Amino acid sequence: MKTKILRLDPQHFLPEDLAEAGEILRVGGLVAFPTETVYGLGANALDAEAATKIYAAKGRPSDNPLIVHIASEEELAPLVKCVPQMAVPLMKTFWPGPMTLIFPKSDLVPSRTTGGLDTVAVRMPSDPIAAEMIRQARVPIAAPSANVSGRPSPTKAEHVVEDMNGRIDMIIDGGQVGIGLESTIIDCTGAEPVILRPGFISQEMLKDVCGHVGIDRASVEKPKEGERPKAPGMKYRHYAPKAEMTAFHGKPEAVAERINALAKADEAVGKKVVVLATEEALPLYSFGEVICVGRRADETSVAHNLYDSLRRCDEMGADVIYSECFEETGLSRAIMNRLRKAAGYRILEV
Ligand code: TXA
Ligand code: MG
Repeated sequence: MKTKILRLDPQHFLPEDLAEAGEILRVGGLVAFPTETVYGLGANALDAEAATKIYAAKGRPSDNPLIVHIASEEELAPLVKCVPQMAVPLMKTFWPGPMTLIFPKSDLVPSRTTGGLDTVAVRMPSDPIAAEMIRQARVPIAAPSANVSGRPSPTKAEHVVEDMNGRIDMIIDGGQVGIGLESTIIDCTGAEPVILRPGFISQEMLKDVCGHVGIDRASVEKPKEGERPKAPGMKYRHYAPKAEMTAFHGKPEAVAERINALAKADEAVGKKVVVLATEEALPLYSFGEVICVGRRADETSVAHNLYDSLRRCDEMGADVIYSECFEETGLSRAIMNRLRKAAGYRILEV
């Protein structure tokens, strides 16, 4: 299949620029598109066959449900059995934006889209290209991140081309995304809202709006053997580079000292070592190739660069990756959630 690449400036495009993408989606094709979090791989959410194509293009396990994207709040009602009261202030405050809510699903949504679950995840992206593309499609759009299953999510169109060229109908190139980590997922089907996947909308921000909000254990620790996390995607190895990665928790000097010692030993036996370091700590490293993931004092810069840095490790042919760790608060909680999974839960205290 030949993949058409459409370049758009997110600040200067016309609605009709997205008419062809809308048409492709309406007739059951696949279009990758930018959102404010990561690039998505879209298909008509109400068409079971189109959803099946997404699983095939990504090589994604079929029990891992898709998020349904809408462009206005009126599009929500037909997709759900009800809107629990707890969701109302969240939608009012954070939609459109990087937040996904789980609701009981209506019969309109095929179980192919929800991986057999009787709930549906819904998100209203704020990215202008994403919103206009959904409007042009005139159907809700199921979209996982536009990466091959298990690889880091795409934050640039080049990443999507790497993973999806020849497998899908169109890639809309809207440049680098703003946030760089996937949306916060909140389950609204229980007694209180529960975070299933941390993201830019942090637990602290959510508490300000709705008082209490829980956090699913699977998002902070390794799921036990046979355990079924509420967000099925959380059980898969994810966001992962090809090399073996380890992340270190502790004072910057101690972390750098440990990484330097390990990197020196690895290089001595001919291994290619890549170090993921914050800008503040760069002068502390003297072995391995060092990639700057952002500034520790500005967690948004780390979120923005993390997946691109992991992909660069692959390009550089890394055998081993060593990384610094971050706090378990605010946006850094989401960064740590992704780092833990990328590292296969190898997090060491120094
Ligand atoms: O920011 C995002 O959310 C991006 C952009 C493209 O919108 N999308 C994204 O989709 O990250 P994906 O498929 O890579 O991750 C969706 C996650 C998976 O962990 C999946 O298991 C979970 O959402 N999920 C989807 N539907 C669910 C449901 N009904 N109940 C629980 N978890 C669900
Ligand atoms: Mg994904």
